[in-house]
Amino acid sequence: MRVLITGGAGYIGSHTVLALLEDGNDVHVVDNLSNSSTESLHRVARLAGRKPGFDQVDLLDEDGLDRVMREFRPEAVMHFAGLKSVGESVADPLKYYRQNVNGTVSLLRAMERSGVRRIVFSSSATVYGVTDRLPIQESAVLHSVNPYGRTKLLIEQMLEDVADTHDEWSVARLRYFNPVGAHPSGMIGEDPAGPPNNLMPFVSQVAVGRRPRVNVYGGDYPTSDGTGVRDYIHVVDLAHGHLAALNYITDRSGVHTWNLGTGSGTSVLEVINAFAQVSGKEIPYHVTDRRPGDAAASFADPEKARRDLGWSAKRGLRDIVTDAWRWQSKNPDGFRINPDSAV
Ligand code: UD1
Repeated sequence: MRVLITGGAGYIGSHTVLALLEDGNDVHVVDNLSNSSTESLHRVARLAGRKPGFDQVDLLDEDGLDRVMREFRPEAVMHFAGLKSVGESVADPLKYYRQNVNGTVSLLRAMERSGVRRIVFSSSATVYGVTDRLPIQESAVLHSVNPYGRTKLLIEQMLEDVADTHDEWSVARLRYFNPVGAHPSGMIGEDPAGPPNNLMPFVSQVAVGRRPRVNVYGGDYPTSDGTGVRDYIHVVDLAHGHLAALNYITDRSGVHTWNLGTGSGTSVLEVINAFAQVSGKEIPYHVTDRRPGDAAASFADPEKARRDLGWSAKRGLRDIVTDAWRWQSKNPDGFRINPDSAV
């Protein structure tokens, strides 16, 4: 299939581009490179033995999108492009509404104009807000607690409204839990600009000596060791979830929604300990106040994805940490510096 990937140079996008190429699809990436570099795609090409197409296009550029649609003639779109920092979304909500919501409006309009009506969308477990009903099922009440989350929820609703206008629309909304890890080759992985907001890249950078210690946000949660519990899912498992979802919607119309998670929870201290073990490095940490807006625990009920898609996560915490550490130790400065020194 010819698949257009928005945000394909980014962390989850690049792993999915690789999985699609390995599966024999034709892939074209559009990315504005605001938080990524084409180095990820060069490495994907080396791993896959062939190149994805690429255009540096911002989703708000409708003419640019029309040109790509005309030239590539996709049969489906996977939509990863978007901003994802919760804190930044609180400080600058309009930036988030513009890039995430308007960007998606622009993409859907370009799809309408070219008659492409198949889309897989990167949603997030953030649409469930903070809940204590665990594990979380797709039917749970939705309520977002910050502007970033609200953009994801708005896009989910927009997709439903758009799908109602034409029987041909087929939409997959994938609610990711906590994507982590890296490709086992160590050639591609997560490369956040600036200090990471998320736990796993932060711990990796402490292990490699780029940062002095981890701040553990809260040690008094009602969890086994008092620290926050999350459902960490290996990015390669996540990429395969996208292929399964695309396969499912290829001959079915309507809007379909799946949690992509493992179904089990891991605490912050368990992550730090696993990382220390695998890397052989000391990981200094320090328990601080809770981070506002954080839930004590969050993990998926992944049963619907297993039933409908035949998909489930295969990789556990050990694989996640081993692969994250391989990526981080081979590329201590991510994609930016000395790209050829990798692998
Ligand atoms: C966060 C976002 C979520 C977003 C997701 C994307 C918040 C409140 N939530 O999820 O909306 O969809 O990232 O990946 O930002 N932690 C530390 N120290 C750190 C960083 C995190 O102790 O330096 C803890 C957190 O309190 C939490 C766990 O580690 O218990 C995971 O945090 P994180 O990786 O930021 O993910 P989420 O908060 O689950």
